[in-house]
Amino acid sequence: MPETFYITTPIYYVNARPHLGHAYTTIIADVVCRFHSMRGAQTFFLTGTDEHGDKIIRSAKNEGLSPREYVDKISGLYRSLWPELNIRYNKFIRTTDPNHIAVVEQVLQKIYDAGDIYYSEYEGKYCFGCERFYTDRELVEGKCPDHQTTPEVIKESNYFFRMSRYQDWLIQHIEKHPDFIRPERYKNEVLAFLREPLEDLCISRPKARLKWGITLPFDKDYVTYVWFDALLNYVSAMGYPDGELFKKFWPHVQHVVAKDILKPHGIYWPLMLKAAGIPLYNHLNVHGYWNVNESKMSKSLGNVADPLQLKNIYGLDAFRFFLLRDMVFGLDSGFSEDALIRRINADLANDLGNLFSRVLAMTHKYFKGIVPEADPVMEAELHFGLKADALKAIEEFEAEMEVFGFHKALMAVWEFISRMNKYIDVTAPWVLAKQKSSRKQLEAVIYHLLEGLRIVSGLIYPIMPGTAITMQKHLGADPETPFYQLDTLKAWKSLKPGTQLPKSTALFPRIDVKKTGGAKPAPETEKPAEIRPEISIETLGKIDLRVATVVKAEEIPRAKKLIKLEVDMGEKRTIVAGIAESYTPQEMVGKQVIVVANLKPAKLMGILSEGMLLAAVDDEGCTVATLDKKVKPGTRLS
Ligand code: ME8
Ligand code: MG
Repeated sequence: MPETFYITTPIYYVNARPHLGHAYTTIIADVVCRFHSMRGAQTFFLTGTDEHGDKIIRSAKNEGLSPREYVDKISGLYRSLWPELNIRYNKFIRTTDPNHIAVVEQVLQKIYDAGDIYYSEYEGKYCFGCERFYTDRELVEGKCPDHQTTPEVIKESNYFFRMSRYQDWLIQHIEKHPDFIRPERYKNEVLAFLREPLEDLCISRPKARLKWGITLPFDKDYVTYVWFDALLNYVSAMGYPDGELFKKFWPHVQHVVAKDILKPHGIYWPLMLKAAGIPLYNHLNVHGYWNVNESKMSKSLGNVADPLQLKNIYGLDAFRFFLLRDMVFGLDSGFSEDALIRRINADLANDLGNLFSRVLAMTHKYFKGIVPEADPVMEAELHFGLKADALKAIEEFEAEMEVFGFHKALMAVWEFISRMNKYIDVTAPWVLAKQKSSRKQLEAVIYHLLEGLRIVSGLIYPIMPGTAITMQKHLGADPETPFYQLDTLKAWKSLKPGTQLPKSTALFPRIDVKKTGGAKPAPETEKPAEIRPEISIETLGKIDLRVATVVKAEEIPRAKKLIKLEVDMGEKRTIVAGIAESYTPQEMVGKQVIVVANLKPAKLMGILSEGMLLAAVDDEGCTVATLDKKVKPGTRLS
């Protein structure tokens, strides 16, 4: 039986235009969906827009449009943006769709009939900006934390959803299904909320105050409040309760959201589903914020990056790759064009792009572009573990993608890419090409490299589908067949010898910082050209270089360039290294580095640094020097 998979994004408010934050979530859903199709799964991908509420009315007024005209316009911007980013959704839902409205009415009635919605007078502190009541505990110094305004005390009768009734049941459910909400930090956050008594949720607004919403089926004077309306999109879009799509896909649903809407998705939604007798979702996947200069990128702060503009400057696949590679799913990440450019130049233009053009250039030069046949004897002699490395990359990629570990999945692929680059250096095809007698060796080496590229092209497919297809074409494979299916990828030696490859192309041009209008140039670094004055061997001998293993690494708050490292070099030392623009702390842990051990200690950001790392520094940032294989920490270099 093929796997079945259903993924959703939040439905975005149409009170402003889409920005990079929305693009990130929606690209994630696309990537995950494509990943599941690599396994042969039947997938369904839902996105859409959230169109009711006060905020929308206000935005419409600002633009001088009727609510209807306004929501049509902004919803259209979202809908037409996604294909531009190569996002293939199956359905785009709008909360103003008649089908959706009918489902909301039906579910409200069902929960009302079951006695879980009741009518009561309520006096509370209401923030008009947020369209919600606040408890004293939630206010910061008496003010709304989002709007910094003092909420107004208002008294009105409203309808309430009895959330408290199912509180213990939800705690048990989360404890029984530890990855119901992931990553774990967000599960813990939800459990912390649930340790306090839950107040019942006010789910209505009197029509006197708000008309732009769905009328309560049991009271014509009220409309339903935004969350009760919005969350139900995930089932209404599928034809709840009897639709075929609902029956088929709902049991396999996963949601993706950012942490701003953790509470509605981690608490209100499961309780609503329980009250309505609908089975719960399988996973809520929660990511962090894209920040700009430490603040959340958001329409209200006006610090947003436009995904279309970034696509036009840097290329779509490079943009998608950056988003997936630079953010650790679950944590916040800083966005800057500098970081984007560094990533493109290092990982795409250099590592992948060079490998691809080197291998294809050699195939054209030595074999007139015809895929050579690998002689089994030579193959056995010259594989250098490449096939095992390929299978390992596939395995790690699959395991990480399954749990939204995108950056790690990509690291596994890039480790394989760097293995292939080393394979070229070790086998030196240009040397083999000089002698007729080593023709068979040359054939085997090039065949292995082409095979390796085939696997890379499949693995990058969910993240960079366009590039994957280009690579496939240049490897002489049919890009129409599902070349990216994991079973096909695992079948080593799938490329057909004798295939004529088309003329080669560059996958990713290097980004010249000066030519891109938006980007700031990378900081000036030391010129590598000049050789320094001559020194004697005695002077050299004074420098004590040691091998050290990084055991711990962490960011230093407020120091954007520095990482604090704890290294083992026979003894433990702390080193502050200016490498944070090129490495994340996680990437450093486990690396063996070379340390100038007898450098006079110095204080950096209040931390005593007892040594310095060796690194190559150029316009792109720095590359830390490591050893060819692992040695005992503390070993002296001579
Ligand atoms: O909350 N970083 O809609 P919304 C990362 N309509 N992701 C970001 C982001 C950022 N800086 N800014 C926005 C709503 N997002 C409701 C949802 S669902 C039933 C109803 C993304 O337009 C992220 O996915 O405010 C976040 O959860 C979502 O946009 C909020 O979109
Ligand atoms: Mg929001």
